[in-house]
Amino acid sequence: MRLMVIGGGGREHAIIKKLKENPTVTEIFALPGNGGIARDATCVPIGAKDISAIVDFAVREHIDYAVVAPDDPLVLGCVDALKEKGIPCFGPRANAAIIEGSKVFAKDLMRRYGIPTAACETFDDYESAAAYVDTLSAPIVVKADGLALGKGVVIAQSMDEAKQALAEMMLDGKFGASGARVVIEEFLTGPEVSVLAFTDGATIVPMVSSMDHKRALDGDQGLNTGGMGTVAPNPYYTDEIAETCMRTIFRPTIDAMRAEGRPFKGCLYFGLMLTPDGPKVIEYNCRFGDPETQVVLPLLESDLFTIMRAVTDGTLDKVEVRFRDESACCVILASEGYPASYKKGYPITLPERHEGDIFIAGAKLAQDGTLLTDGGRVLGATCTAPTLREAVDKAYRLADSISFENAFCRRDIGARALMAKER
Ligand code: AMP
Ligand code: GLY
Repeated sequence: MRLMVIGGGGREHAIIKKLKENPTVTEIFALPGNGGIARDATCVPIGAKDISAIVDFAVREHIDYAVVAPDDPLVLGCVDALKEKGIPCFGPRANAAIIEGSKVFAKDLMRRYGIPTAACETFDDYESAAAYVDTLSAPIVVKADGLALGKGVVIAQSMDEAKQALAEMMLDGKFGASGARVVIEEFLTGPEVSVLAFTDGATIVPMVSSMDHKRALDGDQGLNTGGMGTVAPNPYYTDEIAETCMRTIFRPTIDAMRAEGRPFKGCLYFGLMLTPDGPKVIEYNCRFGDPETQVVLPLLESDLFTIMRAVTDGTLDKVEVRFRDESACCVILASEGYPASYKKGYPITLPERHEGDIFIAGAKLAQDGTLLTDGGRVLGATCTAPTLREAVDKAYRLADSISFENAFCRRDIGARALMAKER
């Protein structure tokens, strides 16, 4: 089987490594992949948003199966375009990817189907949005409607800050069309949990839960990032909470999407907050999370390719999706300055032999084959172990055995989870 994976980050590297475990997989192409993924797949310099080039490549290369991992191509209809050419895909069609592509759509869906989430109002002009802010008290949560590279959410600590965020989104066009509409929502509190789930549109199978660490610096300080590290499972996510989420959030969401004529097939990501009033949806993503995938897939015992094909075929109820009863920790090594400005192009030294996985996110190969830093998040060091404490220690040992100039990581990935466990 000749596979194609669209995307080029740590998440895609984790997916590719897992797909390779299936003996029928003979070749994997990564579009565009990166210098580290090149060890595990054939990288092709086609951007993840270049849908027509992706489709041409798939047809020309007789691709048997495609995995579309990032949000942009999914929202742009990459799966629709590939399916039109008869190429089976993992990932939702554009009419279902809208669950991430438009926060207004997602909030409206939840309101109409009674799925618990923060109360909100939607606005498409600045004046009414600003007037609404005057009726609230801080903190105020302002969200751009569309995709904004994970930067479209502002938790404003004052009315002025909220209005400034609105002005940037709605008047200055900071996120282009994505900010033309905004959602202003109630500020929720409680531990956050990420749950990725396989779904074929009818059956939904949640994966092991995880906890992201979104802020750049220790103690949840600094700017919001794509994620600086993850642990799985998330100790706040008890069996009882999982049962509640299945009944009040997961099933209702899948059923709602089907009822709307938008069956969701692929990986649906639930960003949840465990509030004093029960679990609520903070956000949906139409794809695997990153770096969540870098802890979730290493714990997957069942065969990923078999599960993915069952999702595509609508037979997810027929396959086994089993996770090892262990813990995992992923520490992200980033370039100093991320998520703002940072330098790149530094050689990366990796240990010759190591336990665990090194998932490369932002790196390229120099002419002489040296791996050079090429992004904000450079790589993820993931280890699994019978206990969370051991997984965290091992992941840090692995991270500390890797070096490049200007590297930084958070030193407290897993600390909150360990505290919750030992409470
Ligand atoms: P997102 O980009 O949607 O993942 O949001 C970024 C972060 O903002 C989330 O991980 C939460 O920590 C926070 N957040 C989003 N919505 C709310 C809310 N309604 N109340 C409190 N925090 C929120
Ligand atoms: N780690 C959060 C995300 O993938 O959106």
